[in-house]
Amino acid sequence: MSMDGTVLVPAGRAEELRPGEACVLRLEGREVALFNVDGNYLALDNRCLYDGGDLVKGMVRKEILTCPSRHCHYRLRTGERVGQPRRRLRSYPIELHDGSVWVSVPRKRLWTSLQQRLRGLVYVAG
Ligand code: FES
Repeated sequence: MSMDGTVLVPAGRAEELRPGEACVLRLEGREVALFNVDGNYLALDNRCLYDGGDLVKGMVRKEILTCPSRHCHYRLRTGERVGQPRRRLRSYPIELHDGSVWVSVPRKRLWTSLQQRLRGLVYVAG
């Protein structure tokens, strides 16, 4: 884990995601859409800010992603919503090592992880 609280997570072999293809990854509790745009690997949150559309199913043209329900457009490199630059999806840095794609994501918080594990348990006071 790096000093900024992110962790580099393996996302598979680069050749498995060909140009023009995309996939969804579950990394550190996040749903991340990974795109191969002309050999450039770009990663964003997978859910549209407008109504939660499944962005991995969107259309990409010139590094602009259009949500499947066609209302929102996002810049793949920054996650910025076109026309509303203050609204943006989180984008994730990518690294390539020895033919594999790695995505830098914030580490899942320990407290959140513990809360999820303890959910459903009942505290009984003596
Ligand atoms: S969910 Fe993305 S535009 Fe409707």
